[in-house]
Amino acid sequence: MSAAAASGDGPVRVGLLGCGTVGQAVVRLIGEGGATIERASGHRLEVARVLVRDASRARPGVDPALLTTDPADVLDDPSIAIVIEVMGGLDPTLGHLRRALARGASVVTANKQLLSRHGPELLAAAQDAGAELRFEASACAAIPVIKVLRESLLAAEITAVTGIVNGTTNFILTEMARSGLAYGTALERAQELGYAEADPTEDVGGADAAAKMAILSSIAFHTRVHLDDVPYEGIDRLQAEDIEQAAALGFVVKLLGVARLVDGAVSVRVHPALVPAGHRLASVAGPDNAVLLESRATREIMLVGPGAGGDETASAVLADVLSILGTHQGSFLHNALADAGRPIAPVGDVRSAFYLRMSVADRPGVLARIASVFAEEDLSIRSVVQSGSGDGASLVLVLHAGTERRMAAALERIRGLEEVRGEPVMLRVLGSGEGG
Ligand SMILES: NC(=O)c1ccc[n+]([C@@H]2O[C@H](COP(=O)([O-])OP(=O)(O)OC[C@H]3O[C@@H](n4cnc5c(N)ncnc54)[C@H](OP(=O)(O)O)[C@@H]3O)[C@@H](O)[C@H]2O)c1
Repeated sequence: MSAAAASGDGPVRVGLLGCGTVGQAVVRLIGEGGATIERASGHRLEVARVLVRDASRARPGVDPALLTTDPADVLDDPSIAIVIEVMGGLDPTLGHLRRALARGASVVTANKQLLSRHGPELLAAAQDAGAELRFEASACAAIPVIKVLRESLLAAEITAVTGIVNGTTNFILTEMARSGLAYGTALERAQELGYAEADPTEDVGGADAAAKMAILSSIAFHTRVHLDDVPYEGIDRLQAEDIEQAAALGFVVKLLGVARLVDGAVSVRVHPALVPAGHRLASVAGPDNAVLLESRATREIMLVGPGAGGDETASAVLADVLSILGTHQGSFLHNALADAGRPIAPVGDVRSAFYLRMSVADRPGVLARIASVFAEEDLSIRSVVQSGSGDGASLVLVLHAGTERRMAAALERIRGLEEVRGEPVMLRVLGSGEGG
């Protein structure tokens, strides 16, 4: 941000790209909290212009005269010091942000999909222009996890970030565990209560969590982690039976984002996982998000709170605006995404413990045959529970930690066993020293 734009006696003029759920909350919070913001920061914020698609529609609490459909009114006005991007999407959003940064305006964005794909490019553009780019709201909305990673824990050498970073899926899994609901019924309930979109694919398929984990791991490990570097699985194929079986074994099923340093390389994944019932992530229920940050120096720090919502997200957006006003160029914040050059770990090398459920024909020797497949793949069995008999017996195994590569090979062989019926269900287990 140019020094002139934020100094002097006049207000700091901000422009909004988008005025939906989050944008309207930003405008309202600037109005309601203006006096407090001014007392604390010495700056008065003024909403200068607001870009929308349809300016004829009224937005509660927003002066209709501020609405425009011409991007230039926000992007090219030199009196606008900070551009707040809350319109979402990749196109034309990326072009808009490039244009605002190029003229030296600072940018605050809540857009995880854009950041997880184009973050490094946008940060470089900001740096070249002497502007700031902030994105606290892009991961876990109101929870100040990026600020904690960038500032409070900068010297702590983070070794792992484990998160429940999608509220929709956590709500669904909580309902399935508490009420024994099938996945589809729990999803419908989430939609009725406004915790899930009409099209829930991004959330339940894991893409939303993967984007957030790409952003959080980039900051935590000072490494450029692209969305494509994050393999993800969602909860859309989970069955009530596995949640019940997990509970009987002392676990709770969560959709986890798991980012770790493995021999100096960065490994980031999103998948459903069995979490021991006594683990602090197991108690995070309903639509809440939680992020567990680990480092040798600080051990475990967990941040919990709402991961979505208009006011919650707007609060993080405004915190970024105020932080920009208090940041001078050249400060350490400016370089928070300096590239440490860490490689991305091959996914096959990642280790975790596993849960496996399969239907088998209950014949003599079947368990021995399955056990020998695991032994040959260097995987050892921690527990076995067999229920039922005849052709539809069910076998639930928990395995000690092994690599993804070995597990994939074992699964391939097990599918080929004559006694195994249908597709085995495989989930990772979060455990002490084994990761997720
Ligand atoms: N909602 C949340 O809880 C939450 C939480 C964290 C992060 N976020 C992120 O915040 C951003 C905004 O979310 P939201 O829920 O506020 O979305 P939203 O309610 O759909 O609002 C989007 C706004 O952007 C405007 N817009 C969209 N495309 C545009 C275009 N091409 N040109 C001009 N204006 C355009 C829309 O204009 P019209 O009003 O004319 O349609 C609308 O005002 C997204 O990146 C989202 O991922 C949201």
